[in-house]
Amino acid sequence: MRQKKNFIGQFLQNKKMIGSMVPSSRFLAKKMLENINFKEAKVIVELGPGTGVFTDRLLELMRPESTLLIFELNDTFYNQLANRIDDPRVHLIHDSAECLGEYLTNLGLEKADAVISSLPLANFPKLLRDKILEVSKQSLSTGGKFIQFQYSLQSKKVISTKFEGVKIAFTPLNFPPAFVYTCYK
Ligand SMILES: C[S@@+](CC[C@H](N)C(=O)[O-])C[C@H]1O[C@@H](n2cnc3c(N)ncnc32)[C@H](O)[C@@H]1O
Repeated sequence: MRQKKNFIGQFLQNKKMIGSMVPSSRFLAKKMLENINFKEAKVIVELGPGTGVFTDRLLELMRPESTLLIFELNDTFYNQLANRIDDPRVHLIHDSAECLGEYLTNLGLEKADAVISSLPLANFPKLLRDKILEVSKQSLSTGGKFIQFQYSLQSKKVISTKFEGVKIAFTPLNFPPAFVYTCYK
């Protein structure tokens, strides 16, 4: 309940950046992560964790020797995650998702096996949205997946042109109901 109140507070302060009034449901978390091969994934990236609904599930599923890079730009969400996540697999980064490539290089990590994004791409200026899609694709290993949820099919065309293949799934069990785009490099 506290997390929901806190989320609404952040949304009211910056609607475009937060993009939703409440955190995602566990049903959406399941749909977002069900196509990742956790047995083989070495590096996973999460863009826009918010209160960490997907992060917690990722950490349950990831192998002990794998790495999770998390990008959160919002000060409140970043500080909350920094206070509660104490896991040697995690690099929590207080910076914009578009800087993903630089962080991977600086950490000596070559490519990511999956990029999980909750960013409200449909609210972003075209330049920023395109840059984030481009850097996400470049950061993926061959066969890697970019997984993004959206509340509409508005971004379908843009996302489809950036990746080799895109599959779209839907879950009504979220507020608002959401589309999950699984994009293949
Ligand atoms: C729709 S919320 C999703 C939060 C959470 N993953 C969930 O599903 O409940 C979008 C999140 O993206 C973050 N965000 C927005 N722009 C960002 C950027 N350029 N880089 C990193 N995070 C960003 C927001 O602060 C917010 O936490």
